[in-house]
Amino acid sequence: MINYDLGGKVAVITGGASGIGLACAHTMARSGADVSVWDLDKDAVDETAKSLAQYGHRAHGAIVDVSDSARVDEAMNDVVASLGRVDIAVCNAGIGGESSTSADYSDKGWQQVIGVNLNGVFFTQRAAIRAMKATGGGSIINMASILGQVGFATASAYAAAKHGVVGLTQTAAWEHAADGVRVNAVGPGFIETPMLTKSLDQLTLDFLATQHALGRIGKPEEVAELVAWLASDASSFATGTYYPIDGGYLAR
Ligand code: NAI
Repeated sequence: MINYDLGGKVAVITGGASGIGLACAHTMARSGADVSVWDLDKDAVDETAKSLAQYGHRAHGAIVDVSDSARVDEAMNDVVASLGRVDIAVCNAGIGGESSTSADYSDKGWQQVIGVNLNGVFFTQRAAIRAMKATGGGSIINMASILGQVGFATASAYAAAKHGVVGLTQTAAWEHAADGVRVNAVGPGFIETPMLTKSLDQLTLDFLATQHALGRIGKPEEVAELVAWLASDASSFATGTYYPIDGGYLAR
């Protein structure tokens, strides 16, 4: 397993108690980072922080709804107060949300998905940039999706939010390069996490597997390797870019 040499760095990971965020938390803690995991459920956050302690670095948890900007600001200040700085922010928390066509999509469903998947990334990114500016910079990784590049029937709010994440990534990269802040977006193909396995039946999962050149769904750890590289100094010339990690989904 690769060690991304994150010793001495402090990472905030939203949605870090499950799936891709949880895998990122383990990869980064294994690589030496102190990690603050933010999520909605206290038990899951506590359990994650406990499991990260095995790597011997500081592991914190906080209950944060990323769609609540005041709470995001408060939690970011708490991380600076308790861990001293923020070097890495993985703006990953997200939901699948309502599944219906654009004609039928409800106001409530639209607001929910945009609230978490777009507003939540913007609020976390903004708070992270403010914290990073104070200590000379850092690396922000925003979790987009293949649906940040293409559409998907019945997922208009999700695709709109993920396309938006790519736009706010590119914009912040230009705005804050001079502050030492790099901002990149990651675009996973379909990944085997509770988001997918709780909402889709096996037949659908099997079909989705065929939509990737590699003929399978990805694993959260495979996304975490890219995220950890983007968090590390090894990616020092990377900013403002969307990185697919999709088993070839977009290669057609
Ligand atoms: P997951 O459901 O396993 O994990 C998402 C985590 O985010 C959960 O722990 C959940 O409690 C948390 N969360 C949800 N709303 C939140 C909120 N308002 N504030 C704080 N935390 C919140 O899902 P998964 O698959 O790990 O998703 C992580 C990210 O990856 C999401 O942004 C998702 O859109 C993205 N993604 C997932 C893909 C997949 O196929 N699983 C593909 C492409 C992107």
